[in-house]
Amino acid sequence: MTEILRGQDIAPARGRLGVLMPGLGAVASTFLTGVFGARRGLVQPVGSLARTGKIRLGKRTEKRFEPIKDFVPLADPSDMVFGSWDIFPDNAYAAAVKAKVLRSEHIELVKEELEAVEPMPAVFERAYVHRLDGPHVKKASSKMELAEQLMADIDGFRTRHRADRLIMCWTASTEAYRPAQGVHASLEAFEAGLETSSEDISPSQIYAYAALRKGVPYVNGAPHITTDCPALLELAAEKQVPVAGKDFKTGQTLMKTILAPGLAARALGISGWFSTNILGNRDGEVLDDPESFRSKEISKLGVLDTILHPELYPDLYGKICHKVDINYYPPRGDDKESWDNIDIFGWMGYPMQIKVNFLCRDSILAAPVVLDLVLFMDLAARAGMHGIQEWLSFYFKSPMAGEGLYAENDLFIQRSKLLNTLRYLGKADLIHHTGLDYYYDLEGD
Ligand SMILES: NC(=O)c1ccc[n+]([C@@H]2O[C@H](COP(=O)([O-])OP(=O)(O)OC[C@H]3O[C@@H](n4cnc5c(N)ncnc54)[C@H](O)[C@@H]3O)[C@@H](O)[C@H]2O)c1
Repeated sequence: MTEILRGQDIAPARGRLGVLMPGLGAVASTFLTGVFGARRGLVQPVGSLARTGKIRLGKRTEKRFEPIKDFVPLADPSDMVFGSWDIFPDNAYAAAVKAKVLRSEHIELVKEELEAVEPMPAVFERAYVHRLDGPHVKKASSKMELAEQLMADIDGFRTRHRADRLIMCWTASTEAYRPAQGVHASLEAFEAGLETSSEDISPSQIYAYAALRKGVPYVNGAPHITTDCPALLELAAEKQVPVAGKDFKTGQTLMKTILAPGLAARALGISGWFSTNILGNRDGEVLDDPESFRSKEISKLGVLDTILHPELYPDLYGKICHKVDINYYPPRGDDKESWDNIDIFGWMGYPMQIKVNFLCRDSILAAPVVLDLVLFMDLAARAGMHGIQEWLSFYFKSPMAGEGLYAENDLFIQRSKLLNTLRYLGKADLIHHTGLDYYYDLEGD
């Protein structure tokens, strides 16, 4: 086990941080517009804990709250440079205009910076995203050759932009649901599969392989498995690179993982949770395909079990009927609307209902998640952390977890993990929130 560096031992965030994004669509272009605007002081990076959050340090009597960005050595967005791949040749300005997430007054402010982000030809296979096809794709005689082309892209980007460190974050479409197969069982099997162009290796896995081979941390913003398989975890371990995923936690699942822990904390029962959505952007169109939706459905359905623990509380949560549904409805564009009906029961089993109607903006919620993940993954890499970054599960619908561990979905436990990991890295005392020391002669909070 390698040692995690802490405090002054963590290498400072000197030089340029390159952010490489497969997929230059709604999320990526909204993220870029906000980052470019924020670094010129024109807009606020609302929702970014890394840029705007404060961390409590020491005892409550000390009243110490430090900005997270000053407490641990995070990169500054003004030192970030950006690259991308997409199956369409549109630059980030054209992508932002097409995505119709942001008003033109915001896009025009940073037009020049956005136009400079031009996607490289993508690795794409229609079998994995049935509803899309585009002209801007790589050609090769094998999947290994595609991986080599991506590695050349990574090297080229690093040189062109004089990037000192890189992070790759998947912001491309959700791929069809495919569980891990034999080809994913070991790195050796995976590399043999790349040579023979195994149909079980997805485009996202070719990007991840290229990134990890080049020592670049990989973040998976979509629900398909990518690095969640033994082969790529073996490569991450061999190269000592951090990985994180899966599926940005925004919108309806964010609300679910806020509400469910509260109900469980008060030992209230739940008999049913019905969730439905309408969504009209390209993501919604891709998810209209049953195979891509299956990836999303698994990701969205998984969250309740590890919050409610029906195996421990069969009377309260053993018979929940949990349904999730996404409907592609073009008139709404990126402005998703979700409805939840929660059938709960209380004292003596009496039923009650909760209704949630969230009129959200998908990419507005996802953009700060991308920024935080990039900044924290870069920190993790400099601190010598590698493999699955479970402390970042706060940002994911379907967090990766180590072998034998269940994924933690409770937003508040996830938040404690995140903040205590930052305290650990910053060499501060961890906070356990007992409050006992104030009343008794005890060490601690
Ligand atoms: N917006 C959210 O709240 C949210 C939350 C969780 C997850 N996500 C995930 O984030 C991803 C991006 O969402 P979006 O709304 O920006 O979608 P989008 O359709 O607007 O953008 C995706 C882009 O990826 C491109 N693409 C598809 N396959 C590619 C490949 N193999 N290589 C390179 N580019 C490829 C598409 O051409 C498109 O431009 C999706 O997988 C989505 O499920 C989004």
